[in-house]
Parts: sequence; C-alpha cells; structure tokens
Amino acid sequence: MSLIPLMYVDGCAVKDYGNVTFEEVSNDEPIGNVKSPRAVGSANQRLSAAVHAVKNDGHTCVMLGGDHSLAIGSIQGHAAAKKDLSVVWVDAHADINTPLTSPTGNIHGQPMSYLIHELHSKIPVLPNFSWIKPCVSAKDIVYIGLRDVDPEEHHILTLLGIKGYSMTEVDRLGISKVMEETCDYIFSKVKKPIHLSYDIDALDPSISPATGTPVVGGLTYREGVYITEHICQTGMLSAMDMVEVNPKRGRTEDEISSTVNAAVDLIRGCFGKLREGNHPADYKMP
Ligand code: ARG
Ligand code: MN
Ligand code: MN
Ligand code: MN
Repeated sequence: MSLIPLMYVDGCAVKDYGNVTFEEVSNDEPIGNVKSPRAVGSANQRLSAAVHAVKNDGHTCVMLGGDHSLAIGSIQGHAAAKKDLSVVWVDAHADINTPLTSPTGNIHGQPMSYLIHELHSKIPVLPNFSWIKPCVSAKDIVYIGLRDVDPEEHHILTLLGIKGYSMTEVDRLGISKVMEETCDYIFSKVKKPIHLSYDIDALDPSISPATGTPVVGGLTYREGVYITEHICQTGMLSAMDMVEVNPKRGRTEDEISSTVNAAVDLIRGCFGKLREGNHPADYKMP
C-alpha cells in the first residue's frame, strides 16, 4: 500500500519534495556518549532548510522517517517559518534526554532537549549542532502514549511542568477525553499551528512491530487513528513527522506490512480520511 496514490484518492494534492540527501561524514567519533553527532547534526540542518522551504510554499509538511532524531530539523525548520508552534508528541518515549543525561547516547532519545527554550543552558556544544536555536516552550508541548521514560527524563518533564498523557492516563480517561483536553490545553490562549511528531512505537507492537525500540502496552490501532482524526479536525495541523518505521526490524512480511499500513493510515487520518467513509454531501440517489 503506497502512500501518495492513496492520498490522491483521498482528494489531497500531494507534492513529493523527494529525499533529503546526506553528506558523508568520516571520523564521526562520539562526543561524550553522543553517537554520530556530526552526521546527525548536518543531516538535520539540511532537513530544517527543506522544511522551511516547504512551509514557505504554503503546504502542510510530512516527514517520513527514519529516526526520530529528524524531529530536530523538522521542528526547527517549521518554527523558522511559523514562529509560534505547539508540539504534539505521540510516542512510547519522551525523547527529551540531554546529551548529558542520555543513557544510550542515541540522538533519537534526545531531539526534544535541543528544541526547548528552558533546556538551552543544559545543552553542551556539539559539532554541527551550532545552527540549532531552541524554538519551543515547555508549555506548548503535549505528550501522548508514554510508557518508557528514563528517570532523568521524568525529572525534566516534572521540572518543566510538561503536559503528558501516559498509557495509564489514556486508559483512565479514554482517548477521546485525552484529545479533547490536549486541544483545550494547546489552544487555551491562541490557536498556534500544530507540529505532530508521531513515533510509530506509540502503537502497540502487535500492530507496529517493525520499529527499533518497541514497548509493550501501547495504543490500539483505533486509539492511534483517533488521535489523527482529532488533530485533523482542528484545522491547525501544519507539519507532521511519521517516524521509526523500520522494515528491517520486521521479522516477517506480515510484521512489515502491518507496521507500514498503520503508518499510512495514521497519515491519511491526519489529512481527513474518515473511517465512516468520505461521502459527498450533495449525493443524489438514482
Ligand atoms: N530513552 C531511550 C534513549 O534515550 C530510548 C529512546 C527511544 N527513542 C526512539 N526514538 N526510538 O535512548
Ligand atoms: Mn531510531
Ligand atoms: Mn519511541
Ligand atoms: Mn520517538
């Protein structure tokens, strides 16, 4: 099932801006425990410029990943074009470790830390990261689906008072209440454009197993799609990341297709596909 033809069928005008090309970086030694800083920094700088251009063309921008470290460039580029953003981060993980708190050194566990104003003083200098300017306020972020948060990340989330709905809260409130509250929260003052960063590992691994860091106990397919339908009807979706879809991590063809199909459905939900079907209001029965 491939995305662009389906989105045409859904009635979307889709423009493929192509792939971001990456420069080869040799001798990309870790800095502290941060892995491949030069490659990730420079790739994100290119992505940021590309997203900025797409937003200046007036389109809603979709990033297909790939690693969640791409959120550094996508949110930065988005913020360069639309200075005040809210970020809805749907993920099993908070991805808010700083380079100094990260237990793994993987930058996919850190993207938020580079983007938040309030964490700026905690970010050490890294090669090819100097172009990054913090561009999101802690109060403009909502997490949904959390269930694997490192102790240091938990500390950061609490310290900055960042709004979040763990899987426990999704269970307690139900996904419709979670989305209602999320939108009340992000739209409480002004209606800022939404950057939706959707990690496929937010869904349960029974649906999307082909991903790098699966965690049991995730969102159902229906909860996952409901999030996209709700975001769509706000009319404020301005850019989205669909990340950590990794066919190489699928053990069977079924695991790969289930993961990819879920990602496709989530994107289509963001652009208006309704599960009841999209039917013209002026239909005349023959
Ligand atoms: N918290 C862990 C880390 O910082 C896991 C992050 C997983 N993130 C992801 N995008 N897969 O390394
Ligand atoms: Mn990753
Ligand atoms: Mn994740
Ligand atoms: Mn993630």
